Amino acid sequence: MTMAKIFDAEIKSNTAVAENIFRLELFAQELAETARAGQFVQVKLADEFTLRRPLGIASAENGVVKIFYRVVGHGTEVLSAKKAGDTLNLLGALGNGFDTGVTGRILLVGGGMGLAPLLSVAEKVGEVDVLIGGKNRGEVEFWIKEFKPEVGKVFITTDDGSFGSLGFVTNLLPEVLDYEDYAAIYTCGPEIMMRGVAQIASENNIPCKVSLERRMACGLGVCLSCSIDTLSGRKKICKDGPVFDAREVFMKAGENHG
Ligand code: FES
Repeated sequence: MTMAKIFDAEIKSNTAVAENIFRLELFAQELAETARAGQFVQVKLADEFTLRRPLGIASAENGVVKIFYRVVGHGTEVLSAKKAGDTLNLLGALGNGFDTGVTGRILLVGGGMGLAPLLSVAEKVGEVDVLIGGKNRGEVEFWIKEFKPEVGKVFITTDDGSFGSLGFVTNLLPEVLDYEDYAAIYTCGPEIMMRGVAQIASENNIPCKVSLERRMACGLGVCLSCSIDTLSGRKKICKDGPVFDAREVFMKAGENHG
């Protein structure tokens, strides 16, 4: 396993792609070469912030690492003001990442910013389909552009019906599963969405992996701020995850594992 490193990366671009959503590109040759799909970095936003922020790696190609983030508070506001040529201090790559060696076709199911780690799977695996969910047209259109060159079929839902099917990814997923026999489903997004996806995957006997997101203080398995209960005991999202088997984290002890 490659050791996580602390290093400075120069910003290539930091651009708004939708309302309050930014795409950050960093020159980071070694990270781009070694990062696995679904891993993340801990970013030091500025000296005023003691804690680093975990941000998922969405793409790692040709010496450039791509990250997406939503501006939700002072920290991400500071990040959004950074310009090309500025440097950011990173710790990474961290976490286990997704298995990209699955035999058979994978379906990626993502909601909102949860699509970021799934994009890195699409980039690494190639032969995958994606089900994209978002609040409205503005929140899905840029994802479609990002995923299109990497994937086969793209299925879309929006909460307000302004693009694709009206509703949530869980409304459309059963129909998508009629279309093809998938070897695995990988999902990331709001927890309620992932639970729904995991339930449908289980009903269809399809292995499902979920990527969990939490506030993380250290990112190194030391502070325990990201601990969760799983079927096999207490685990740390930053070190044992962020990718887990859905049954492991969403099923209670004693339930049928399917
Ligand atoms: Fe510290 Fe996971 S963030 S143990």
